Amino acid sequence: MAKIIILGADGQLGSDLVKVLADSSHQVVPLTRDNFDALDSLAVSKFEQYGDIDYIINCVAVTNVDGCEDNVHDAFSINTSFALKLAMFCAAHDITLVHLSTDYVFDGNKTTPYQENDLAAPLNIYGLSKYAAEVGISTYTTKHFILRVSSLFGVAGAAGEGGNFVTTMLRLAREKDSWTVIDDQITCPTHTLDIARAIVALINQQVTEYGIYNCVSSSSCSWYQFTQDILTMCGFDKNKVQPISYREYKFKALRPQYGVMAVDKLAKYYQMPTYQVALKEYLDLKFAE
Ligand SMILES: NC(=O)c1ccc[n+]([C@@H]2O[C@H](COP(=O)([O-])OP(=O)(O)OC[C@H]3O[C@@H](n4cnc5c(N)ncnc54)[C@H](OP(=O)(O)O)[C@@H]3O)[C@@H](O)[C@H]2O)c1
Repeated sequence: MAKIIILGADGQLGSDLVKVLADSSHQVVPLTRDNFDALDSLAVSKFEQYGDIDYIINCVAVTNVDGCEDNVHDAFSINTSFALKLAMFCAAHDITLVHLSTDYVFDGNKTTPYQENDLAAPLNIYGLSKYAAEVGISTYTTKHFILRVSSLFGVAGAAGEGGNFVTTMLRLAREKDSWTVIDDQITCPTHTLDIARAIVALINQQVTEYGIYNCVSSSSCSWYQFTQDILTMCGFDKNKVQPISYREYKFKALRPQYGVMAVDKLAKYYQMPTYQVALKEYLDLKFAE
């Protein structure tokens, strides 16, 4: 049995981790903003009160990619500095750190799936803040797992408030006859429940092959294709959505147009499902609520 702290336990991924670990024999300490503020310089040292800890899983982040361009301070304070302080704390207390990163560490110029050791070249502040955390964590502590995830959907929704890309598309399907979605940005939409299961698999198998792991669905699509799948699975006409190009959309922050990541390394410990299987399970859970 391991003692595990979950930081950001009420977020989209954090809440699925709490659910998956509730069915385990591990002792879980779920912490939210009510218990600590990542912007507090003493936040990390306060974790000593929880005694001998085996794992800290850091789901805390600023995830608003365009917002990070305007709020560089919070992006680096929470996504980078807090993660580095955690890494130092974990090294000093012999704790394994599980940290979440992103496909946005890449520039998207490849045309075949990114491997863990491909060169990072972030295009925006969010990606840079997450990549800086990766470098800092691997510098300061050996016992770490950095899981690169992408395009998350989970029952709790972003920041635990119910919303994500899937719920937005379903709202548009109810409200509109037609709308546009990007067809030339390729990603691996991933259910947070599958990431939670992968993390628990690493813990249960007491894996010591530390380092970076890609942790995304094992199939990929454009956002437009993903929307068509969502509409079809929920009984809407998939032709309500029209394709638009990335260039026409005009995001504030640049994004990688190709964010597909290979999951062969993780498959030794956990086999990620295709996004189609993951979406079906998510919809079943969401509408059973
Ligand atoms: N969402 C995606 O599509 C995506 C894609 C790639 C990578 N990722 C990475 O995956 C991880 C999990 O993402 P997610 O979608 O589960 O994020 P999320 O739902 O936005 O959860 C983030 C958590 O961080 C907490 N938090 C933010 N600022 C805090 C602060 N100052 N002090 C304490 N807690 C704070 C939030 O609490 P409050 O709700 O109280 O603010 C929330 O619980 C993150 O590392 C993210 O960068 C996400």
